[in-house]
Amino acid sequence: MAGKIITVAQQKGGAGKTTIAANLAVALSRMGKVVSLLDTDPQGSLGRWFMMRRERGDPGMGFSTASAWGVSYECDKLRREADFIFVDTPPKIDSDLKPAIRESDLVIVPVSASQVDVWATEGVLDLAGREKADVMVVLNRAKAGTRVAEDVDKSLRELGVARAKTILGHRVAFPETMGAGKGVQERGKGAWTDEIEALTREVVKRLK
Ligand SMILES: Nc1ncnc2c1ncn2[C@@H]1O[C@H](COP(=O)(O)OP(=O)(O)OP(=O)(O)O)[C@@H](O)[C@H]1O
Ligand SMILES: [Mg+2]
Repeated sequence: MAGKIITVAQQKGGAGKTTIAANLAVALSRMGKVVSLLDTDPQGSLGRWFMMRRERGDPGMGFSTASAWGVSYECDKLRREADFIFVDTPPKIDSDLKPAIRESDLVIVPVSASQVDVWATEGVLDLAGREKADVMVVLNRAKAGTRVAEDVDKSLRELGVARAKTILGHRVAFPETMGAGKGVQERGKGAWTDEIEALTREVVKRLK
């Protein structure tokens, strides 16, 4: 088995890294894929989420942690065990992030629909460029009917990066399910489940 490593990175705190990693992991696990999580963020939010799942029964995926220098080793191991490995990262761009980016088949960069978040992506885009990693920007918490998404799109075009076609809306289903150790798909159908399904399909297609 040669699993795909997907790192979720963004310097800006609260952009949705952990939420996206957890929800894509749930979606792929529900599709029968073997999924593993690797938390490299000392805040440990993904770990807390995973532990909540575990308390309820079979979490349906694996979990481990690694600090900067252990990431390559863990990735090598997990690639042999899982189809998809999600690496969650802290909100900073420094040399600690390099090993995760280097190991990645895809780097997902969540951008909350604000110009400030676009500015914050430059660090990770530079690093991904140097490591020749494939990047997918995901617009998160977009509010329907606002112009911000258009403005963000324009800035992303100027930076020359591709964004996922799927946009994740600002939806209370995300914090509600995260707090319960779930993904939105485990809560019942809504626009949020369509969005996560569509994003999952895009990610899988990109990794083919
Ligand atoms: N699309 C969304 N709609 C509504 N709330 C969201 C959405 N995405 C994320 N959130 C909420 O925003 C907060 C921050 O999200 P999350 O923890 O995933 O960000 P992060 O980038 O991992 O943060 P950090 O940089 O601190 O690790 C959480 O409370 C989460 O539930
Ligand atoms: Mg996080």
